[in-house]
Parts: sequence; structure tokens; C-alpha cells
Amino acid sequence: MRIEPAAALVGDVAVPGVKSISHRALLFGAIADGESEVRNFGRSGDIESTMRALRSLEVAIDEPDVDVVRVHGAGLRGLKHPAAPIDCGNAGTLLRLLAGILAGQGGEFTLSGDDSLSARPMERIAIPLREMGARIETTDGGAPVVIEGGALKPISYELPVASAQVKSCVLLAGLYAESGPTVVVERGAQTRDHTERMLSAMGVRVQSSPRRASIWPVERLQPLSLELPGDFSSAAPLLVAATLLAGSELRVHGVNLNPTRTGFLDVLERMGARITVFNRRMLAGEPAGDLDVRSAELVATHIGPDEVPLLVDELPLFALAAGMARGESVVRGAQELRAKESDRIATVTNSLRTLGIHISERDDGFGVRGVPTRPKGGGMGSAGDHRLAMLGAIAGLVSREGVEVEDAEVVAISFPGFFDLLESVTKR
Ligand code: S3P
Repeated sequence: MRIEPAAALVGDVAVPGVKSISHRALLFGAIADGESEVRNFGRSGDIESTMRALRSLEVAIDEPDVDVVRVHGAGLRGLKHPAAPIDCGNAGTLLRLLAGILAGQGGEFTLSGDDSLSARPMERIAIPLREMGARIETTDGGAPVVIEGGALKPISYELPVASAQVKSCVLLAGLYAESGPTVVVERGAQTRDHTERMLSAMGVRVQSSPRRASIWPVERLQPLSLELPGDFSSAAPLLVAATLLAGSELRVHGVNLNPTRTGFLDVLERMGARITVFNRRMLAGEPAGDLDVRSAELVATHIGPDEVPLLVDELPLFALAAGMARGESVVRGAQELRAKESDRIATVTNSLRTLGIHISERDDGFGVRGVPTRPKGGGMGSAGDHRLAMLGAIAGLVSREGVEVEDAEVVAISFPGFFDLLESVTKR
């Protein structure tokens, strides 16, 4: 896919529903009593993987419309044994959260994934689940993961890495513990709290504070009826392009503004971006609003370990914004980026450097020497990573000569209509 330089982004758009919430609504709806309905659920490759996985566990899911799903909950312990391993595709959230649920079901389950997912660290969920009493084996530390569930005991677990997926996995297993509470302690900034909010809305006793989430076992989950806001991580590429392209005037409507997700908004604001939030409201039990973005000249900033969880999926885009900001920017304490769909410290620094950004790799992040002019452009691969492909597209818009992104169709993992939506607001 070749992305030509653009003059500005102008118009009004909405992005697909929050991927993290879509996974959770399907998974939690599957173990609720009764029928859950999710509207604007954000159909994407990862979400299709979750629907396929649940159907293999004999959960009935209707799709009355392209962005509406109805999940017929099988009850807390009602998932049926599949004949084959459960294929989680590219979706880490699916594998790690489902593992927490399966730890509470009787019998043995195997969770597998594509090459990227198989190489990602799974002992981080196996260790706490074993401590709770499940039998669980990883393959060289990754997937396939074999789980034999059973009686679980509550634990208090301090997360060794800041990960909402690991936190959620432990909390879900805590639903099945023989008593409560199961407690997850976080060291740095609070990771995304979609699980805590949603389970609480389903009738579970949950206590959540910035450093600690506690959950008590339940007999049954109440079903959900949700209209999802747009995914901040899918809006973020548009925010960066509109900020960097002079003359832009873009509004992104109905975006999720959960404060555990919007660290990038704070970072862009302190760099000098002109982003205004209006129409603040609640959608699906989460803060949401409309964003108005005008172009601005940016200055460099530093991001430390405590801030990283709040913008972990936006750090590739930060690297590009920093590359065009005045001064030296640094990201530290972001070694988790190496455990994403690709090693994002390596893939982001290598590709942006090829395109003319002055960026250097560090063990736990990167340093960027910003130059407030358009980078040259060129060609880059996506490394099979959806966020890298979107980064390449935005780099193309703000470049002098355009960017050719290989395997750009991988954007469909989180945002299938990305290129069409981008084109619809691009002025050349
Ligand atoms: C997610 C949590 C994050 C994020 C991922 C989705 C979630 O991963 O990178 O895209 O839905 O809980 P970690 O929790 O492993 O940091």
C-alpha cells in the first residue's frame, strides 16, 4: 500500500468500537446467565477470533447486523469442551483472558495462536493461575497453553509486569475461587480497568483503586446491553496526522476516554497539540466524548515507566510525533513493547529510521531527536503488526515523498476500514 503525502485532514469521523471492551463483552457475555447485546462492537480480525473461539466452546452468538452481536450466555460453568485446540489467532487479549475463565471450568483445554501469538510470553498468566490451583503448561513459555481447571483458591498477586491482560486473567479466575477476595496489586500506573468496570456492571463485587483490584466469587453474571464508544487507540493515528498536518480540522466523535487509556492525549497536550474534548458523556459504563483536533507545532517530552501503561499501544505513534517535535524526546520503562504483536522497540525504531526520523533504540524504550519538518519517507514492512502498519500510513501522510507499507492489510486485526476512513478525510 502506497500512502502519498497529504496537505491536511479535514472532516468528521467515528472509529470502530473499543477492541478491549469488545473482547470482554463477548467473553463475559458468554459466561453470563441470559442474552447480552453489544452494539457498535468493532468487528475486526481479533474480535472474529474471539467469536470463533467462543463458538468452539458451543456458545451461541447471533449477528443481527454488521456491528451488533447477541451472545447467549452459557452460565459461569457452562462452556463445553471443544474437539480441537482453541485457535486465538493473533489476539493476546483473547488468549490471556479466556485462560482465566477456563481455569474455573472442569476438564482440559488447549489454547493456540498464530506465530506471533505463540512467541509471546504466557508464563505471566500461568504463574498466578498455578498458584490458584489450576494445572497449566506453556510451550517454551508461549502458546500453545494447556489448562486443566478445577477448584481454585483466592490469591493476592503483585503484577511483575504492568499488564491489564494478566490482571484481567487473575480477576476472572477469582470469579471461580472458593472464597474471596482475589487481589491484584499494581506497582506503577493503573493498567486499563475495562474488566473491573464491566464485571461490576454484571453484578460482581469488585473494588478497584489505582494500585489494587479485588474481586469476590459469584454464582451468576447478569447479561450486558452495551453501545460501545470508539477505540481511543484507533482514533490516535488520526489525532497525530491532524496535529502534524498544517491546516487540519478534524473531529472524531464518540471516543472512549477512560483515563486508563488516554495517556497519549495528555502527552500530546504537553507537547503543544490543540485537541479539545467536547460532549463528554458516559457510553457503556465508560467516559467518552468527541475530540476536535487542529494542527499545531510540537515540542519534545519525556515519558517514564509510570506513564507507559496509560499509552502503551500509542507509543509507536508517539515516536513519529516526537520525530517532528522540536527537541529531544525519550521513552523509558517501556520494555513491555518488546512483548507485543512485534518487538515494537525494534520494529518502530528500524522503520522510522528508514523513513528519515532520528530515532535510536534503548533496552527499555527509545530516544528521538525531533526535527520540525516533514521526514523524507520511503518503504517499510509491517512485521505483521497492525499498529506498525497504521504508523507507516500516518508517516506517509506527513512525509515529503510518501511511504510504501508492505503487508498493510494487517490493519484489519484491529481496524479493517482504516485506509478508507483515512482517505475520506485526507486533503492532498
Ligand atoms: C489489552 C492490554 C494491553 C494492550 C493490548 C490490549 C487489553 O496489553 O497492549 O492491546 O485488552 O487488556 P498488556 O495488558 O499485555 O499490556
